[in-house]
This record gives sequence, structure tokens and C-alpha cells, in this order.
Amino acid sequence: MRRLMVTGGAGFIGSNFVRYMLGKYPDTFILVYDKLTYAGRMENLEDVAEAFAGRYTFVQGDICNMAAVDSAVQTYAIDTIVNFAAETHVDRSLMEPGSFIQTDVYGTFVLLEAAKKFNLERYHQISTDEVYGQVLTGRSTEKDQLEPRSPYAASKTSGDLMVLAYWESWKLPVTITRGSNNVGPYQYPEKVVPLFATNAIDNQALPVYGDGLQMRDYQYVLDHCEGIDMVLHRGALGQIYNVGTGEEMTNIEMTKLVLATLGKPESLIKHVEDRAGHDRRYALDVSKLRALGWESRHSCAQAVEKTVRWYAENEHWWRPIKSGALYKEYYAQQYGKRLSE
Ligand code: NAD
Ligand code: DAU
Repeated sequence: MRRLMVTGGAGFIGSNFVRYMLGKYPDTFILVYDKLTYAGRMENLEDVAEAFAGRYTFVQGDICNMAAVDSAVQTYAIDTIVNFAAETHVDRSLMEPGSFIQTDVYGTFVLLEAAKKFNLERYHQISTDEVYGQVLTGRSTEKDQLEPRSPYAASKTSGDLMVLAYWESWKLPVTITRGSNNVGPYQYPEKVVPLFATNAIDNQALPVYGDGLQMRDYQYVLDHCEGIDMVLHRGALGQIYNVGTGEEMTNIEMTKLVLATLGKPESLIKHVEDRAGHDRRYALDVSKLRALGWESRHSCAQAVEKTVRWYAENEHWWRPIKSGALYKEYYAQQYGKRLSE
């Protein structure tokens, strides 16, 4: 496994994964194949292009474009696809579900077809704990029933089912990881931790949905990358592995931690209208991945604190995003009415 095509590699987790893999494996070549939606940014890979020249290249393309995908796989003699490419934000999936179905379902099918056609050594799907739906008690194991509730979660679930169908039908060498909420450098400031950190830095309100007692497992992005790496090297074909810290915190605890890390007052907290169909709690059982020898290095609290510090130190990365017209339009649509009520 030496010539990877990392789809969605210009996004948050993908760019962290590319940097991590090229740094760890000197014999690995990576092609990042990315459409560059609002969430995909060349800046996320600037240092990678410099540090790993010769072992890294970039192609702008859509995973739904079969001819372009086939051509990239052949041109760069790819042996492994790791698919991060997706529409990823739950709130946007409530505004406009079509692109989620297109990329997260049809795009996955296109990549699986390429993996099958060109006899690739591995197809790895990056999935999410949201496929299990909300888990009010206990923890989700990989064998649990899938009960997705948002258009995003339903699209990701459909992608997973397609991956498993290619394993069952043709023994295509697939693996799947299902991660909990990631935090860390280069996360687009629509997701809650970077949104709250950057709002707090600017003394703007932090819009907490509903009572803020929903629970999430915030894991540090590089712990997730190590888990994916572990599954690529030691995971069994046709298998699914959960990746997370195995602990959770409430949104209000996370919010107070963001504020405390920045030395900002809790008066910035504003409870606003809840997200439609808001999943109350996700919680993963990660014992299957631990049994391969992997362990998360950061607790939820450490992951959130470290992330907030990165945003405080890297304003040059997020200020241009937040001051752009696209972002402002999204923010007004998503929060305008909520924050004025
Ligand atoms: P992101 O939104 O930051 O990045 C997504 C990337 O995919 C972007 O670079 C975008 O340009 C690219 N992309 C989107 N549509 C594409 C298309 N049609 N063709 C090619 N490229 C396309 O996402 P992220 O948070 O880094 O998530 C990456 C993957 O991890 C996703 O599959 C997501 O479902 C999964 N995941 C995310 C989290 C999380 O907390 N962020 C947790 C678990 C799983
Ligand atoms: O669980 C994994 C998933 O985590 C990934 O599959 C998704 O791609 C990723 O977006 C994330 O989904 P969430 O919906 O959990 O993440 P988000 O950052 O949008 O929200 C986290 C929690 O914070 C959730 O309970 C909703 C709440 N929230 C979010 C926003 C954006 C707020 O209270 N206010 C906000 O403004």
C-alpha cells in the first residue's frame, strides 16, 4: 500500500491525514483528489506541497465524475483509495440535502467502481458515528443497527451500505472507520468548536442549540488519523472499526471550556432555537480498534483545549474565511433569526 488517492484531502481531516501519512511513511506517494468545495482549501496543504515535493500531488476533481476518477487512478498508478470526500455539515444537510446524496452516496459508488475496475489493494471509507443515530444509553458497537436521523447521516449510512455491498458481492477489499466528532487544526468554522472559539475571540455570541445538554465525543483529529492508519495496516477486510475517545461531554461543558481556555466570559453564551431532529447523544464502543493496539492520546477536554489554542494562534487561517461573502451569507441564514430572537 504505497500509492494512495486521498479523496477530500483538502478538507479538515483529509489534510491532517495526508500530512500525517507522508511524515510517517517515507515510501508513500499521495494523490489528493478534491473538488474544492467551500470546505476544501489549498491553504490546508500548503506546507505539505513544500515538505513532500515529489511524493505528493493534487488533482482538482469531483468524485461523482467517473471518467475523471478513472483517469486519476490510472495516471498515478493508485493502489489504495481512502475516501474522505463528503458534504459534512449536518445544518447544511437540513438546508440543502441534494448535494449530500450526490457526493456521499453516488460519489462513493463511483469510487467503489474504480476500485473494482482497477483491482485496487484497498478501498477505505471514512464514516461517522452518526450512522448509529442518537444513543441515549450505552455505546454503539460496530454490529449495532443503523438508525440515521439527519439527511447527512442517512447519506453517510447509504455510502457505508454500498461499501459493504461491494465486499459481500465481489469481495472488494474494503474497510470502514466510523469516527466521532473531530477537532483540531484546519476545521472550517461552521463546526461547533472552531465556530465558538473564533466567535469568542471576537467577543461575539456563542449560539448553543437548545438546552446544550446534547453529548458528543470530541476527539483530536490526529488520534483519528492514527486509528485510520491502524485499520489500513492491521484491520481485517470487510470490517468496520469505531474511532473515538470513548468518553463524552455535553455541549455546554464544551462551550464553557472554550471560553475558559480563551479567558472569555460565560455571558457570551446564548441559547438559541434547537437544530431540527437534533441527536441527543453519540457514544462509541472503541474496543474493537483498541484490540488492534490503538489508543486515543487525548481526552475530549485536552482535544478541545488544544484546538482552541490553535485557532487563537492561527487567525491568518480563519479570518479570510469568516470575512468572505459566502461565509457571511451562510451565517446570516443559519443564525440571523436565531440570534435576534
Ligand atoms: P470537510 O467538510 O472539512 O472536507 C470535505 C472535503 O471533501 C473538502 O475538501 C471538499 O472539497 C471535498 N469534497 C466534497 N465534495 C466532493 C466531491 N464531490 N468530490 C471531491 N471532493 C469533494 O470534512 P471533514 O470534516 O474533514 O470530514 C471528512 C470525512 O470524515 C467525511 O467523510 C466525514 O463524513 C467524515 N467524518 C467527519 C467527522 C468530523 O467530525 N468532522 C467525524 C467523523 C467522520
Ligand atoms: O459525530 C461525527 C460528526 O460530527 C461528523 O460526522 C460530522 O461531519 C460533523 O459535522 C460532526 O457533526 P455534529 O452535528 O455533531 O457537529 P457540529 O459541530 O455541527 O455540532 C456539534 C454539537 O454542537 C451538536 O450537538 C450541535 C451543537 N451546535 C452546533 C453548532 C454548529 C450548537 O449548539 N451550536 C452551533 O452553532
